[in-house]
Amino acid sequence: MKVLVIGSGAREHALCRSLSLDPDVTALHCAPGNAGIAEVAELHQVDALDGAAVTALAQRLGADLVVVGPEAPLVAGVADAVRAAGIPVFGPSGEAAQIEGSKAFAKDVMAAAGVPTARSYVCTTPAEVDEALDAFGAPYVVKDDGLAAGKGVVVTADLDAAREHANSCERVVIEEFLDGPEVSLFAITDGETVLPLQPAQDFKRALDGDEGPNTGGMGAYSPLPWADPKLVEEVMETVLQPTVDEMRRRGTPFSGLLYAGLAITSRGVRVIEFNARFGDPETQVVLARLKTPLAGVLLAAAKGDLADLERLRWRDDAAVTVVVASHNYPGTPRTGDPITGLDEVAAEDAPHAYVLHAGTRQDGDAVVSAGGRVLSVTATGKDLTQARDRAYQAVARVKLDGSQHRTDIAAKAAEGA
Ligand code: AMP
Ligand code: GLY
Repeated sequence: MKVLVIGSGAREHALCRSLSLDPDVTALHCAPGNAGIAEVAELHQVDALDGAAVTALAQRLGADLVVVGPEAPLVAGVADAVRAAGIPVFGPSGEAAQIEGSKAFAKDVMAAAGVPTARSYVCTTPAEVDEALDAFGAPYVVKDDGLAAGKGVVVTADLDAAREHANSCERVVIEEFLDGPEVSLFAITDGETVLPLQPAQDFKRALDGDEGPNTGGMGAYSPLPWADPKLVEEVMETVLQPTVDEMRRRGTPFSGLLYAGLAITSRGVRVIEFNARFGDPETQVVLARLKTPLAGVLLAAAKGDLADLERLRWRDDAAVTVVVASHNYPGTPRTGDPITGLDEVAAEDAPHAYVLHAGTRQDGDAVVSAGGRVLSVTATGKDLTQARDRAYQAVARVKLDGSQHRTDIAAKAAEGA
């Protein structure tokens, strides 16, 4: 099977890594990719938001499957263009990707499907904003309606800050605050059959102890030893299957990866958000644990054949990933700094620990930083403690001037707290 992956982050590196280990994959291509992906796939230049260009590339390569990683191309309808050319594609249509592209749309789907989520108001005027903030009280949760790379959400006890963020957006969703730990649960679906993956937990804040601003995600781990063993089953019944059924019912079937961002509150599981693609960095740990070869699963979803697929198989191992970010991330990051120590990780820590690249590019002989999140250092182990130790040992070998990472990824879970 010839596979083309679209995207350039550590999520795409994780996807490419798994695909490169799949004996059914005879050729692996990625566009635009990054310096790490280049080690496992052939890279191509493409405007990932241009459906015609992606389709032309897939045709030229004779791709049997196109996997679209990030949300922006999905929302722009890139999967529609590829599908219209008769090439199987893993990823939802532009219309279905609105489940991530518009928070208001997602709320509407959830209401129709009876999916538990925070109560919310959609506001477009300062008066509506004030009314909604007043109705819920502090802490305030204010979400830009559109795509914002995980940075459009402000959670604050400060009424003025909440008001200011709300009034800077064209349309906002203001909602009830949900307490309790967060879980990311992914499901692969062809629009009818839903196949849940293993749950993971992401660390959204920039600094240790969940301090600092929201980011795209600073680390993740899986499994979740503290979670109810019935969690996946419950979320399948109350969230994933009803949502997929509702999307089909309204004529916008969702195929690809449905990401449920959940809060485990004292009153039960609630959906915080849906995404229309694999999560980053959770994918790095979920795929590290998946034993079933990946390509066949993605192809079955793309072709509508998931019902015929055998059960997914998982390793007993735990996995941890630690994101190494540029100086000043999540603000405008400094880029172009050389990264060293990658060879040492490959020589000393493989196969249990390895570096997935996010914002990197090759500059002559050097690998340099090229984005906010630069690397996703991933490790597996017999339990979270071992996976964590291995991940941080590898992080310590990597040198990037001015870089930052959290030191507490999976720490509480490893201690059994
Ligand atoms: P989102 O982009 O919707 O995932 O929001 C980003 C982050 O903001 C989430 O991961 C949560 O940590 C936080 N958040 C979003 N909605 C709520 C809510 N209703 N209550 C508490 N925290 C929230
Ligand atoms: N890790 C959060 C996300 O992928 O949206």
